[in-house]
Amino acid sequence: MLRPPRDFFRPLALGAPEPLREIPVTPSRMIHFMNAGNERMRARVPEMLQQVDVLLGNLEDAVPTDQKVAAREGFIEVARTHDFGQVGCWTRVNSLDSPWFLDDVMEIVAAVGNKVDVIMIPKVLGPEDIHYVDRLLAQLEARHGVRRPILLHAILETGGGVARVEEIALASPRMQGMSFGPADLAASRRMKTTRVGGGHPSYLVRSDPNPAHPEAQRAVAQQDPWHYSIARMVDACVHAGILPYYGPFGDISDPVGCEDQFRAAFLLGCVGAWSLHPSQIEIARRVFSPDPEEVRFARKIIDSMPEGGGVAMIEGKMQDDATYKQAMVMWTLAQQIAKRDPEMAGKYGIA
Ligand code: GLV
Ligand code: MG
Repeated sequence: MLRPPRDFFRPLALGAPEPLREIPVTPSRMIHFMNAGNERMRARVPEMLQQVDVLLGNLEDAVPTDQKVAAREGFIEVARTHDFGQVGCWTRVNSLDSPWFLDDVMEIVAAVGNKVDVIMIPKVLGPEDIHYVDRLLAQLEARHGVRRPILLHAILETGGGVARVEEIALASPRMQGMSFGPADLAASRRMKTTRVGGGHPSYLVRSDPNPAHPEAQRAVAQQDPWHYSIARMVDACVHAGILPYYGPFGDISDPVGCEDQFRAAFLLGCVGAWSLHPSQIEIARRVFSPDPEEVRFARKIIDSMPEGGGVAMIEGKMQDDATYKQAMVMWTLAQQIAKRDPEMAGKYGIA
């Protein structure tokens, strides 16, 4: 259930900051995961801040139980001691049913509530999970004098979450976006794959047999087992005015498979993906920065329809109000990326 429209943007605790009306759209092509409990990783933070759009301190899966507290304290230290500039400062806390969640949130907001932009909530089952964190954050913001609302990001990684994805997207004005989590989702659905994202050789379609040569080889093509859920997530996010992301691609040794998975998500409307390894930063940068040729074409469309309407013919292709809007999406993103990424600025010809 949504709060009544008149109450939706009211703070949930006295003294908490006003919720945002619009989600800030800044480049977030890659959400780079680090275990900040690891001293070597902490030492690389200044270098990472030069390379990534979002740096995330991971406290959940992949952090061993005996390092949970170190990961939390390490993230607090990183957030406190570094100037993130335009880079997003995010954390993924442990799940709501874990013994760590409450301390994760209470300690992080108390220590660095004015530095953290987004808290990622894993294994979200429905809007009630978001409502709970929403109120808790408002109370903590009020107690610790946090000046701007900390935003929430849900991981779509349970069958229940997919069934209620629209309700989750609309649960709170804190919702910044959603990431697709193929590993937990596969487990939750009892899918028969141990892969983290990507296709599967057994999930395929086969061409019909040739009646004249029934024994002849029949062409097969692998299908995308994630298409339906990612598309639903994109629609739910667009409907709610928040941002959709692809999550992890687990096979670090397969950069081509990773790029294909990221690109499929990009084409469907996702704005970024997780990088679990430094090699995936460059892949995400390549995929989620729009192609310079397309940006050039988008600029042409905008220039040919200054009012944003009517009809025009450019290089043999018909343009109208809808393609103008597509062009504006592309151009606005290119401009934002150009501000952060001098190499892409050069390719886009944006000074
Ligand atoms: C991400 O957290 C996943 O489970 O895929
Ligand atoms: Mg997961």
